[in-house]
Amino acid sequence: MTKGQRSPKGATPADRYRHIDFLRVTEEAALSASKWVGKGKRDEADDAACSAMRVALNQMDLKARIVIGEGERDKAPMLYIGEELGSGEGPEVQIAVDPLEGTNLCANGTPNAISVLAAAVEGEGWLMHAPDCYMDKLVVGQECKGVVDITLPPRVNVRLMAKALGKDVDEMIIGILDRPRHEALINELRETGCRVHLVPDGDLSVAIAALDPDAGVDGLMGIGGAPEGVLTAVAVSCTGGDMQARLVFTNDEQRARAEAMMDGKVDRVLKTEDLARGSVVFCATGITSGDLLKGVRYRRGFALTESIVMRSATRQIRRIETTHQDALPNDHHV
Ligand code: FBP
Repeated sequence: MTKGQRSPKGATPADRYRHIDFLRVTEEAALSASKWVGKGKRDEADDAACSAMRVALNQMDLKARIVIGEGERDKAPMLYIGEELGSGEGPEVQIAVDPLEGTNLCANGTPNAISVLAAAVEGEGWLMHAPDCYMDKLVVGQECKGVVDITLPPRVNVRLMAKALGKDVDEMIIGILDRPRHEALINELRETGCRVHLVPDGDLSVAIAALDPDAGVDGLMGIGGAPEGVLTAVAVSCTGGDMQARLVFTNDEQRARAEAMMDGKVDRVLKTEDLARGSVVFCATGITSGDLLKGVRYRRGFALTESIVMRSATRQIRRIETTHQDALPNDHHV
């Protein structure tokens, strides 16, 4: 096949390898953040992940623009929305990042801290430029696609899911962020007999675990960050699961900002395609071990990372364990 020619599955040879380059970006961020695992220093961990991610992105032949990042330019020193990264050569790419998803989890050394990146080449894929607000999410795997509806009560959805999965309701496990705002949701689900997997932080890891039939979580429900919701939608597009969501605002300023970004239609149910569509790529590397991935582990003179890399164009899902020979905790990128 000559350069630039499309393969039968719709991807150019360059596309085929670029997602592996993105893997380096989350690996570097995870290795750098891992130095701060369990040290109680949220900001240092976040800075380490952001700087490593920025360096790695700048080494790629891309014209990359951050569409979901650490916040607006005036609030974030790097990886801010609109920041341009990459060598300036190569395709224009929209990038969504969460260099350290689960800042508290990393600082406390508890499960599920991960580093995440999603990408879409301009003209081939698209990522919603999510407002910085909350999002009510319902995420299910492929077998439950088309059977749930976020506008129905959670007790109804869990029964519909159990039927689609051929399980009893009391065999179901639904992941939910452990927050006071979810008290009614948790009680309603428990009354059905369903089991609830409460996590202190990191609804993105749990959502992605829900997309994997072997991960032991059947779905994610409840309110978490909207930027994390877009990253989740990318993973959903790559696996063929289903996601429905609604934006949730805590003040008028958030609502006004979202209305300006979304032509006023901020109260509708958002489907996976409203959050991410076309050809998209998702990469995540574990920092602390959890529902989705093993964390960074150090051995004599080297480190091991575990990552997941997914492409919507081919629905390929790769789990990659990498040995990093030069990644001792005391000298890595800090
Ligand atoms: P950070 O890593 O940015 O702290 O996010 C962690 C997280 O738990 C997300 O997974 C989740 O979507 C969001 O925070 C929930 O926000 P809140 O802590 O305000 O309920």
